[in-house]
Amino acid sequence: MSGGTAHLLTALFVAAAMGYQSRRSATDLDATPRTTVTFDELLGVRHFSAHTLNYSTLLLEEDRGILYVGARGAIFALNSSDVADGSHRTIHWEASPEKQMDCLQKGKNNKTECFNHVRFLQRLNSTHLYACGTYAFHPLCASIDADRFRLPSHFEEGKEKCPYDPARGYTGLIVDGGLYTATRYEFRSLPDIRRNLHQRPLKTEESPLHWLNDAEFVASVLVQESKDSPVGDDDKIYYFFTERAGEETTSFFDKNQVARVARVARVCKSDVGGKKILQRKWTSFMKARLVCYIPYYEVLRSICSLDGGGWASTVFYAAFTLSAQWRTMEASAVCRYSISSVQHAFEGPYMEYQDSARKWSRYDGAVPEPRPGSCITDHSRRKGYNSSQDLPNSVLDFIKLHPLMFEEVKPAGGEPLLVKKSVAYSQLAVDRVRALDGRSYDVLFMGTGDGWIHKAVVVGSGIHIVEEVQVFGDQQPVESLVISHAQRSLYVGAASGILQVPLASCARYASCYDCILARDPYCAWDGRACRATATADSTGLVQDIQSGNEGCRSSSGRGSLPWKNRTVLQGDDVLLPCDQHSNLARAVWMLNGSEAPGTGQDRLRVGVDGLLVTDTLPQDSGEYRCYGEERGLRTLLAAYSLTVLPELPRGPTAASRPHAASQAASDMKVAYVSAIVALVVLCAVLSTVLLYVSCLEKRKGKYVLGEPRPASVELQTVSANCLRKGRRGEEEEEEEELTYPDGCLRIIPGEAPTAATSPVKELPAAVPPLPPPPPLPAELTNGVGALPNVLRKMNGNSYMLLQQQEEPLVSPLYSASFTEELSKILEKRKHTQLVEKLDESSV
Ligand SMILES: *[C@@H]1O[C@H](CO)[C@@H](O)[C@H](O)[C@H]1NC(C)=O
Ligand SMILES: *[C@@H]1O[C@H](CO)[C@@H](O)[C@H](O)[C@H]1NC(C)=O
Ligand SMILES: *[C@@H]1O[C@H](CO)[C@@H](O)[C@H](O)[C@H]1NC(C)=O
Ligand SMILES: *[C@@H]1O[C@H](CO)[C@@H](O)[C@H](O)[C@H]1NC(C)=O
Ligand SMILES: *[C@@H]1O[C@H](CO)[C@@H](O)[C@H](O)[C@H]1NC(C)=O
Ligand SMILES: *[C@@H]1O[C@H](CO)[C@@H](O)[C@H](O)[C@H]1NC(C)=O
Ligand SMILES: *[C@@H]1O[C@H](CO)[C@@H](O)[C@H](O)[C@H]1NC(C)=O
Repeated sequence: MSGGTAHLLTALFVAAAMGYQSRRSATDLDATPRTTVTFDELLGVRHFSAHTLNYSTLLLEEDRGILYVGARGAIFALNSSDVADGSHRTIHWEASPEKQMDCLQKGKNNKTECFNHVRFLQRLNSTHLYACGTYAFHPLCASIDADRFRLPSHFEEGKEKCPYDPARGYTGLIVDGGLYTATRYEFRSLPDIRRNLHQRPLKTEESPLHWLNDAEFVASVLVQESKDSPVGDDDKIYYFFTERAGEETTSFFDKNQVARVARVARVCKSDVGGKKILQRKWTSFMKARLVCYIPYYEVLRSICSLDGGGWASTVFYAAFTLSAQWRTMEASAVCRYSISSVQHAFEGPYMEYQDSARKWSRYDGAVPEPRPGSCITDHSRRKGYNSSQDLPNSVLDFIKLHPLMFEEVKPAGGEPLLVKKSVAYSQLAVDRVRALDGRSYDVLFMGTGDGWIHKAVVVGSGIHIVEEVQVFGDQQPVESLVISHAQRSLYVGAASGILQVPLASCARYASCYDCILARDPYCAWDGRACRATATADSTGLVQDIQSGNEGCRSSSGRGSLPWKNRTVLQGDDVLLPCDQHSNLARAVWMLNGSEAPGTGQDRLRVGVDGLLVTDTLPQDSGEYRCYGEERGLRTLLAAYSLTVLPELPRGPTAASRPHAASQAASDMKVAYVSAIVALVVLCAVLSTVLLYVSCLEKRKGKYVLGEPRPASVELQTVSANCLRKGRRGEEEEEEEELTYPDGCLRIIPGEAPTAATSPVKELPAAVPPLPPPPPLPAELTNGVGALPNVLRKMNGNSYMLLQQQEEPLVSPLYSASFTEELSKILEKRKHTQLVEKLDESSV
């Protein structure tokens, strides 16, 4: 057994022993976006950008109809109903040339860092906004009159409120006039949660223990727990971050590598610090580990929260990516947490650091009263503790040494909602939508590191990804997401600008089936069209979020389609194209009214974009219908009448020759050139193989980019029997272009995919699984792991088939035959499946 496998098995064993065992495997937790919308297909999107970059700090004020945007060297006020309407106002707030010079001298990058990056922008009071910028590594803050929208004459020092580094993890809130920020402020300073703009500024403790270890902050959320509290509780601010773990963790892969874990911490709003002990420090700081999918997904990327009409129903959604061990892989996990599970951890036992053993372990000794770290409640007030300054020394001393809780915060349902390969989620936003079935559904918008947005609906303990939308043509990370109910828009902030995207584009669903199958809570079918539920009277509307297949009356999603005729010669190969709009649909082919034999039949291959009939015989003639089958519903997508002629009609001329043959003839020159460019062909072989494998996979991992097809997908056949024709070509001039001089290499030309037009990140075709140490998460070691991204590129009319005959090959490159490649891949898959089974059985 290799070292890597041993590690992996141990990891899984420990994970199971510690109660992290997931009921479902990572593959089950994956979800394929139902539809794919590329940048070119985007509709109704508004774009704003000015002559600057890094539009990453957003503040939406729905009631005023303004979206404020903090960018590099500027603050913008945009009309939230149309960010692109040209009515925006601008505050230019550039770092001074002297400060930029200083910054350069500090060794910082004057192309990305030595600017004033506006990182904080919130409402201070009814008249003013509060903004902080990095100001070329010399942070400044300012109160800005929102109406006049001009910089004040006076600035405040920002070094306690805003990080120096524009890329440092940072979060901040204004609560009752107090500024609560968390980051590592200066380059060498320790990370800290601070309160400023308050009579009682507070910080975290640094001795004898650091309460925070190299923390990288992601988000902070105010939860108003004082509202209707029967115990007179206080409002709390929760912080989410990743930090160096002091306690034992499951990240034991590399003893020399310090594990980082995700955390949630909290402080009480009314905390004023201690009197002698913990003076000007939080007395209510507590932190606990936040687990999602142990032991792999430990890096917290984004948090969004939703309060469904009362703090007690608050839920947090969190996106994680793989921990540092798997730096070369991309994958994300999404988990949901309830506020009660967070509270549960903070009410449980504490951890304690044992100097002698140099480790953290559960503390089982006596705990002083009132409970250390809790807010001041009626209970403590009755005992005479009116504020944190009244707390006894024993309590404050205890807090100093016990900031970490023993219990971990586990996700709702004990497992992630989603584990997604080849995607790095960078931002989350959530909306709660009331569907026509009377239930409320959470809709997640998940921005990726390469400019896509996945829109997903949470149904029970699972998730359905309605669509993936490419909002940026270039691969930049989505840096902020804000939802507007009033505008039914999602604002997307990124390096290049701001986008305003509709929350739903229901009109994209052309049929009742399509509308229902989408399971988009914003959309319903009204009998004629798919439309937004918010705009329509809900009577007569059809929607099915739960199962996604009920409510449409007609038995076919679309009316009858015109038949297309195909005529070929016996022995030809023919591709009958059929494009599946949905990535979740299975292609079903009916021949003369009965279902085509799928994989059993060698000469018929159902691919993601059509049916390939190789080496046709006259009895293959007949009626071919293509359906998309999804959730038990079948939609007719294409219908062909195929005629296979035993031989060419007598007296062939260029005009009377079967259409396909002449088509092929016209493509011969192209094909010939292709043949010389052997690499391209090799690529194509691989693509066909991969497509084929994906069919074998029952389209489980299918993930196709629905690129708009040119209308000319007409070439689907290639004349066979080239040897015979080649010989004939010597006699008949007009046949000559059909002849391949070098043996018989037959190619179905298509538009070979080019890297330049691909909107998707490059992933080499057959990426071997990473070598063992460090071990990979089980779901990533599957040999076809890289398939989806490859398919995205290979999809469409890029079908190419290379067929060889008896004659020797011209180039050694051609020796990579279809069958050979296929068996190689199957071999690899067999192997990796074995490994996967082994893992499962050993847990
Ligand atoms: C935003 O645009 C809408 C429509 O164009 C207009 O009615 C509204 O007054 C504008 N709002 C602001 C704050 O300019
Ligand atoms: C950055 O500094 C270099 C010198 O170190 C200078 O040549 C360059 O013009 C500067 N770039 C900008 C954008 O200021
Ligand atoms: C809001 O805050 C600013 C800056 O501190 C102050 O000048 C202004 O008077 C405040 N406005 C109100 C209405 O309190
Ligand atoms: C700002 O945008 C530039 C250009 O895309 C990028 O290189 C840089 O990392 C961004 N800086 C921050 C702090 O996001
Ligand atoms: C706490 O407040 C109550 C009522 O406001 C007061 O009677 C009591 O003396 C206070 N206790 C302390 C320790 O300040
Ligand atoms: C296909 O062929 C049938 C009969 O062979 C004919 O009736 C029909 O018009 C043809 N359709 C097209 C689109 O050419
Ligand atoms: C379809 O039916 C025709 C006759 O109606 C027959 O010649 C042909 O072989 C059938 N094709 C298939 C694939 O069964």
